[in-house]
Amino acid sequence: MPSSTTLPVPVWRDELESEYAALIARLDGIVPCLERTLQLPWIDAINKLKRQRGATILAHSYQAPEIFHGVADITGDSLALAQAATECDSQMIVLCGVHFMAESAKILAPDKMVLIPDLEAGCSLAASITADDVRALRAAHPGVPVVSYVNTSAEVKAESDICCTSANAVQVVESLGVDKVIFVPDRFLGAHVAKHTRVRLVLWHGRCEVHEKFTAGEVRHAREGFNVKLAAHPECPPEVLAEVDFVGSTSAMERWLVREQPARVALITECSMADNLRARFPAIEFVKPCNLCPHMQRITLPGIYAALRDFRHEVTVPVAIADRARAALTRMLAVGRQETV
Ligand code: 13P
Ligand code: SF4
Repeated sequence: MPSSTTLPVPVWRDELESEYAALIARLDGIVPCLERTLQLPWIDAINKLKRQRGATILAHSYQAPEIFHGVADITGDSLALAQAATECDSQMIVLCGVHFMAESAKILAPDKMVLIPDLEAGCSLAASITADDVRALRAAHPGVPVVSYVNTSAEVKAESDICCTSANAVQVVESLGVDKVIFVPDRFLGAHVAKHTRVRLVLWHGRCEVHEKFTAGEVRHAREGFNVKLAAHPECPPEVLAEVDFVGSTSAMERWLVREQPARVALITECSMADNLRARFPAIEFVKPCNLCPHMQRITLPGIYAALRDFRHEVTVPVAIADRARAALTRMLAVGRQETV
């Protein structure tokens, strides 16, 4: 099977300019013109093949703008993508995001074929904890339920009572009706959740390799040097969260922009997010941080094309693991979404 780098490159046709006029306008100022002429043939080829296959492309908000705006059918945060996997009609899903997101889609929609364009698209949080670690935590804290952030492997979810995302973490923790929970694996998200609930949290030491890099000094510099409003993802260190105007998940930040309509903003999170929001908020000036998630960046247009053409890389989860992980994810979906953090 040829690798995506050896795929025949779709060629430019002048008609693409008019066929994709709306997309070109949306990407104006976000993707350099030169790249656009390289990307449009891929976008066109993917959209055609996607229709032929009856596939749905789900893309996380951290995907590159040409994917987010050019080929995705449904975009959003990890909670929205998990919900979309269960609700969309297609038998084939191409998940443009990282591996745990594709696994969640497969667990929730076991009869569908779920493809991820690059199997190596991982996550430092998911890599920070194993199912054995969860079992050891349970042994150390008998009777204390486990809440696992969706940024975990299927095996870890299978060992958990319930999952959460950054969009519903407080609500999920409180839904259990207990005074203590084990919260894994993100220490910073856990510390932030602990501030918003009376439930005591036993934390793990996982960190997002992208969000942990932000410093309070950088944030102060952005405020003073660029006169911006600041919003940060709760995966950032506590001293960063202490400096900003708003702390919230990917989707909460977007709703905060709708409410606040700041003239100028810096989103202290993965930087593709600002690129993707710019088209929706043309009146807002985004001062961009430059922390990109290397795992999200592994997803490319040629990779998506290859996934659709060759049905690769199919994500599978052993049935016994999937059944237990589904119980934890389904409990989360029943709790729903509440943007308290
Ligand atoms: P969301 O749950 O906000 O989509 O975040 C997922 C993620 O990987 C953040 O780094
Ligand atoms: Fe994982 Fe961080 Fe990348 Fe999100 S941004 S996928 S938490 S490494």
